[in-house]
Amino acid sequence: MNKIYFFNEHEDCYKKLQSLIDDNVIFIIDSKLKKLHPLFFKKEKTITVSASEKLKNFESIEQLALKLLKLNINRSSTIVSIGGGSIGDSIGFLASIYMRGVRWINIPTTYLSQIDSAYGGKTAINLKDYKNLLGSFYEPHATLVDLQFLTTLPKKQILSGKGEEYKYSIISKHTYDEYISLSRIKKLQKIKASFYKKDFFDKNDKRVFLNFGHTLAHALEKVEGSTKWTHGEAVFRGCDFNLFLTDKQRDDLPIKKKIDQKSINKIITAMGYDKKNLNKTRFILLEEQLVVKEFEKKEILAYLKDYVSKQ
Ligand SMILES: NC(=O)c1ccc[n+]([C@@H]2O[C@H](COP(=O)([O-])OP(=O)(O)OC[C@H]3O[C@@H](n4cnc5c(N)ncnc54)[C@H](O)[C@@H]3O)[C@@H](O)[C@H]2O)c1
Repeated sequence: MNKIYFFNEHEDCYKKLQSLIDDNVIFIIDSKLKKLHPLFFKKEKTITVSASEKLKNFESIEQLALKLLKLNINRSSTIVSIGGGSIGDSIGFLASIYMRGVRWINIPTTYLSQIDSAYGGKTAINLKDYKNLLGSFYEPHATLVDLQFLTTLPKKQILSGKGEEYKYSIISKHTYDEYISLSRIKKLQKIKASFYKKDFFDKNDKRVFLNFGHTLAHALEKVEGSTKWTHGEAVFRGCDFNLFLTDKQRDDLPIKKKIDQKSINKIITAMGYDKKNLNKTRFILLEEQLVVKEFEKKEILAYLKDYVSKQ
C-alpha cells in the first residue's frame, strides 16, 4: 500500500524516513544530490546513479541488481530511491523484479516527479529508444514528497514539470500558472489519483487520459532525443498538437522549442509504436469530453505537416 507524505523541510522528511526503515536498507540516489542534499547520504549502503533516460535500460538494471546481490540485499530489505522520474521509474522497476519484489520507498526530487511520475505505480525502462516499453505496475510502500528538494532544481527542470502540469490543466479543472507550492503539489497528486484509482492497470479507458499529449511527446523524445527535449517540454508540444487536432483554442506555450521539419516522417513512424496503440495511431482528444480517437497514418501525417509549418 502506498502512503504519501508531504513535507516542507528535509528534517521532517528524513525523520519520517527513519521511522519507516531499519538497517536492512539500501539507498539508491541521484548522484547530483550528494553535494546539494547531503542529509540523505548518511547510510553506509548507498549506491549513486546518474539520472537520465540512459539509466532506464536493461544494462543499468542488470548492473544495479548485481550490486544489490553483492550487498546482500534480500527479500526482507527495503530499497529507498531518491531522485526524479528517471530514478523512480527505473528503481521502481528494479524493486518490482528483484527477487520477485522487494519493499520500496520513493522520494521524488523533481517537480515533474512530485506532481506526476511518483504516483500511480507505473514503473518502466526503455527498450532501446522505445520509451517505457518494459515495465510493471508496482506501488512503493511509501512516497515522501519534500518541497525543499525543489530549491536546487534548475529552471529547465521546473519547466519540464510544468509540462505535465499543463496537461492537467487541460484534462481537469486545474488552473495553470507558474506558481509552485506544497498545496499545489498535493492538489495535482489528487488529480492524478482521480484518473488512476479506478483503473490502476490501465484497462478501462480512464487512466489512458493521463496520456494526453504523450503520443507526440514520446515520439519527439525518441526521434529528436532527450537532449533536445526534456520530458515535460515534449509534453507541452504534444498537448499543443492534441489541441490543434480538434481546432481548440491554444495558449502561448512557455517553450520556444520547435519540431524540426526533417523529423516529421520519423515521428509518424515512432508514433505507430506507442504502446497504447492497438492498430492505428491513438490520440487523446478534448472534445465535449475527453475521448480516445484513432487516426490513419496518412491523416495524421497531413495534420503534423500543417502543425509543424505553423508552430
Ligand atoms: N511513471 C510515470 O507515471 C511517469 C509519468 C511522467 C513521467 N515519467 C518519466 O519521468 C522521467 C522524467 O523525470 P524527471 O523529469 O524527474 O527527470 P530526471 O529524473 O532525469 O531528472 C532531471 C534532472 O534533474 C536532476 N535533479 C533531480 N532532482 C534534483 C534536485 N532536487 N536538484 C537539482 N537537480 C535535480 C537530475 O540529476 C537530472 O539531471 C521520464 O523518463 C518520464 O518517462 C514517468
